Amino acid sequence: MRNHLTRRRFIRTAAAGSAAVSWLHAGRTPTVLGAQADKPALLGGQPAHTGVWPGWPEWRQSWEPEILKVLRSGRWFRGSGAGKVPEFEAAYATLLGAKRCLATASGTTALTTALHVMGVDAGDEVIVSPYTFIATYNAVLIHKALPVFADTDPETFTIDPASIESRITERTRAILPVHIYGMPCDMDPINAIAKKHKLGVVEDACQAWLAEYKGQMCGTLADLGCFSFQNSKHIPCGEGGAITGNDSDLLDRCHAFHNCGRGTGNFQGRGYFTRGNNFRMQHFQAAILLQQFDKLVKETQVRRENADYLTAHLKEIPGITPARLPENSRAVWHLYPLRYDAEQFSKLPRSGFMKALRAEGVPCSSVYHEQYSDGLLDEAINSRGYQRLFSAKRLKAYRDSFQELEGNRQVCSTTVGLSQNLLLAKRAAMDQVIEAVRKIQAHSAALAKLA
Ligand SMILES: Cc1ncc(COP(=O)(O)O)c(C=O)c1O
Repeated sequence: MRNHLTRRRFIRTAAAGSAAVSWLHAGRTPTVLGAQADKPALLGGQPAHTGVWPGWPEWRQSWEPEILKVLRSGRWFRGSGAGKVPEFEAAYATLLGAKRCLATASGTTALTTALHVMGVDAGDEVIVSPYTFIATYNAVLIHKALPVFADTDPETFTIDPASIESRITERTRAILPVHIYGMPCDMDPINAIAKKHKLGVVEDACQAWLAEYKGQMCGTLADLGCFSFQNSKHIPCGEGGAITGNDSDLLDRCHAFHNCGRGTGNFQGRGYFTRGNNFRMQHFQAAILLQQFDKLVKETQVRRENADYLTAHLKEIPGITPARLPENSRAVWHLYPLRYDAEQFSKLPRSGFMKALRAEGVPCSSVYHEQYSDGLLDEAINSRGYQRLFSAKRLKAYRDSFQELEGNRQVCSTTVGLSQNLLLAKRAAMDQVIEAVRKIQAHSAALAKLA
C-alpha cells in the first residue's frame, strides 16, 4: 500500500503537470508531456491516494465521565438553572467574542427562532442566499414567508451583495446570508444595505464555526448568527445548534421562543408573553460539545493550512478555480470547493472528472444543485396559505425570478467539493490530491473519450 507520494515521484509528476500547463497556455495539446505524466487510475495507472482518509465524527474516551455525570444526575433537560447547556452557552459566546449565546436543538431551529425574533411573519419576504443546505430555505418557509433568492457570486460561492437591493420589496423583513463551507460572506455591503432599508440580518453560520471576517468571528457580524452542531459538523453532537449575538433583548426573545414562549431575562415574570416552540438543547449534547473546543481550534488551523496549500497549487492548473475569499477574512472549510471548467479539460464533463478523481482515491461531490427547481417552492406557493398571503402576480414573478440566478447556476453546475475530513490528513495526502488533478488534466483527452 502506498500511503505517501515519494519526493522523486511527486517532482516528476509535478514537473510533467506544470509543463503540460505551459503547453495548454500556448494552446497546444500536451500529448508527449501527457504520456510522461503518470497515468490516471481510470486509464490503468496507480491511484494517487491509496490510504484511508480521517474518519468523521470522532470521539475520545476522556469525554465519557462528563457524559456519565449528566446520565447519573437524572436531570437531562435544560429547564431553568445551571447545567451543561448554560455552561456551553457561556463558553461558546466567549470563544466567538459574542455577548450572548443560546443553545438550540439544531441549526434549523436556531434559524427558525432567529427569523421569528427579527419579525419575519406570514406574508413577508426574506432575501436568501440560494447556494446553501435546504434548511436555510425551510427556515423561511416555516414562517409562511417567501425566500427571495439573491444571486451567488461565482468567485466567492456566497451571496452577491450587488444582487440584493433590486430584490427588496415593501414586504422584505430580513436578509439571510450564508457563510457556505465556512467561507465568510462580504458582510460590510450586506449590513449597509440592511441599514439603508431598515432590515434585520441573520447570518447562517451553520458551517462557519471560527470563520473570521475583518477580525470578527462569523455569527457576531449581524443581528443574530446561527450555528449547527449536527453530526457532520466541525464541532458535532448528533443534533444541536446555537444562536449568537450582542443584543440581550434579542437573545432573551430567542430564549423565550425556543422555550415554549416562557419569559426569561428582560421578560422574567411575564409568563407566556409570546408564541414559542420547544427547540431546547439537552445537557447530553452540551456535555459532548464542551469537550471539543480545543479540538475545534487545533483542527481549524490544520484545515486552513491544508486548504491554503491546495489553493496555492490547484489554482495553477488550467480549468481549476479555487474560491476567492473577501479581503481580510479566514474560512474554516466545511468543504473545500473548486470550480471546474470542462473546456480546459478537453470537454471532459464534471461527472467524468469526479469519476476520475474518485478512482484516484480522492472522494468528491458536486454538492448543491439548483434546489429551487426541485418542487418544494412550487409546493409552498401553490398551497392555500401562500395563495391567501401573496397575489397571483407576485407568486408568478417569484417563480420566474429563479431564471435570473445565472451566478448560482454556474456555481451549481461547475463545483467539485472535497469534504472537511480530507483536510485533516497529512500534507503528503494534499500532494496526492494535487497530483491526482494534474494527472487528470494531463490525460483529459483520453479520459473524455471514456466519458
Ligand atoms: C448552511 C446550513 N444551514 C442550516 C443547516 C441546518 O442545520 P441542522 O442540520 O443542524 O438543522 C445546515 C446543516 O447542515 C447548514 O449546513
